[in-house]
Amino acid sequence: MRAAFASRFDDANPLAALTVGEQPEPTHPADDWVTVQVRASSLNHHDLWSLRGVGLRAEQLPMILGCDAVGVDPDGNEVVVYPVIPTPGDPRGVSILSEHFPGTLAERVAVPRSNLLALPAGLAAADAACLPTAWLTAWRMLTTRGRVDEADAVLVQGAGGGVATAAVALAVAMGKRVYATSRDAAKRARIAELGATAVEPGARLPERVDVVIETVGAATFDHSLKSAAPMARIVVSGATSGHEPKVNLRRVFAMQLEILGTSMGTPVELAALLAFCAERGVRPVVDTVVPFSEVADAFARLHSGDVFGKVVVDHTA
Ligand SMILES: NC(=O)c1ccc[n+]([C@@H]2O[C@H](COP(=O)([O-])OP(=O)(O)OC[C@H]3O[C@@H](n4cnc5c(N)ncnc54)[C@H](OP(=O)(O)O)[C@@H]3O)[C@@H](O)[C@H]2O)c1
Repeated sequence: MRAAFASRFDDANPLAALTVGEQPEPTHPADDWVTVQVRASSLNHHDLWSLRGVGLRAEQLPMILGCDAVGVDPDGNEVVVYPVIPTPGDPRGVSILSEHFPGTLAERVAVPRSNLLALPAGLAAADAACLPTAWLTAWRMLTTRGRVDEADAVLVQGAGGGVATAAVALAVAMGKRVYATSRDAAKRARIAELGATAVEPGARLPERVDVVIETVGAATFDHSLKSAAPMARIVVSGATSGHEPKVNLRRVFAMQLEILGTSMGTPVELAALLAFCAERGVRPVVDTVVPFSEVADAFARLHSGDVFGKVVVDHTA
């Protein structure tokens, strides 16, 4: 079957490590696994990390990339794939599709049957394919970890990204005052259209916020600390610009800040997110939809950083 996979690692030029070509059909590591015919998937920064060799070992190559999928199960049901798989050998106890088990950027993907959720009526496959990784991460950052129901104001850093646009759209839909930073003036204009107050990175906000959504890391972390109100939660799920920022501990204890790590979300949280989007009419921010034949161009677009929202791959085209 056709697939997009890491054939080697290249830290300096991850696009050179990507191959689009034939890979073997999925196998089932256990009896409760099923094969899903993929209809739509979306790219994540995670796929670029994989091509750089972050989280993968050379002996795991070739590895089919992709964490997100919407497709059809063996009984003909339209399903959303929850991408977190129990993985006893992994220190986390779990892994995300494309880390230990082949990913979703293929004609077919195998997962445990319990990882399938029904595609809600009214939600298009291309939209739902944005939800299981970036949007689920943003949902858990805001709700379970950030306790956004106790918050009035939220700051989202690096707001052009997949997780970040999700956090902006969800926090606005939840009725919060949302501030968002982006390095790019055009992206700031689009963030404003989503209902947030867009500012340049590092800008002083009109108020301190109760929840900060951090995926950028070193480049923005000091601003996250300075923007946080007393007792605020700074929720971290990524570190695109570097994972070793300087942290002013005086500010952490004096302002009684919580710095919380988080990764992905639970199946219950994904079901809640799907229901929220279906019932509230919230739809993912989609940068582009490309046919599978142009998946390499889609990776280049993500790598350029010139995206606003999610890059979706249509596997039916
Ligand atoms: N832990 C998890 O479960 C989980 C799940 C999903 C993602 N993540 C992580 O979260 C991060 C974002 O993922 P994504 O898929 O949303 O990525 P993405 O769509 O590629 O977005 C990355 C965004 O980060 C900002 N950025 C990058 N470099 C920056 C810099 N030097 N200074 C300021 N801003 C910078 C950019 O925003 P502007 O251009 O607007 O400034 C960019 O749009 C990645 O590191 C990813 O690995 C983690």
